[in-house]
Amino acid sequence: MDRGASSLMPKMLLHGTPIHEVFFGGNGSSFPFVHYDALFLHTQITQIHGDKDFVLFHPDDSPYLYPRPENEKFSQVRNVFEPDLVNFPLFAKAKPYFETIRQGETIFFPCGWWHTTLTHGPSITYGRVVLNSVNYDRYLDDKYRRWVQNGKFKANAAYALGKMVGGVFSTLEALSDPRHPVLGPLTSTYFLAGSSWTTPLSPPPSTGITGHRRTNNVS
Ligand SMILES: [Fe+2]
Repeated sequence: MDRGASSLMPKMLLHGTPIHEVFFGGNGSSFPFVHYDALFLHTQITQIHGDKDFVLFHPDDSPYLYPRPENEKFSQVRNVFEPDLVNFPLFAKAKPYFETIRQGETIFFPCGWWHTTLTHGPSITYGRVVLNSVNYDRYLDDKYRRWVQNGKFKANAAYALGKMVGGVFSTLEALSDPRHPVLGPLTSTYFLAGSSWTTPLSPPPSTGITGHRRTNNVS
């Protein structure tokens, strides 16, 4: 389930988190640093116009990417196309994945994947982030590091709420898992989730349950 898009997610836990973004680029423009995305969010990128080259590295390659001491999400290797192997010799062991995302195509990469991009012409990109059971706790830990800068009491309260909400999500996800021996087959289609609710559906005669069909495709 995309917890960030769920109506059950308290808005205060998402405050300051860019869920949707649009990027404009031109010939030769690039995000200047190899990095993985803030708050350990998963990322889904769609090319609205033009093409964009992606270079990605698996999270296991982190030791070869020389994370910065002051910000471990950014690499010290400035240019992965012409890397400085004198100062960063281990980079030679990193395995880059190259992919060109063309207009109308979408790429999804999970949290912790290092990446940078390069465009060769006008480019419009839509990006959205995904928060689910895989990255939720790390998201919360990162949010806490931000919240605490504005006071420990509020940060602790928000963190406790986040943990409680995470527990609720985990329970609901377990119950709606199609592999759940009893409830899964009954609830996986009729689950209270998604960014908006639709008209209640009539349940299949055999189940006797009521609910709302979710309107997003991300689980
Ligand atoms: Fe990024």
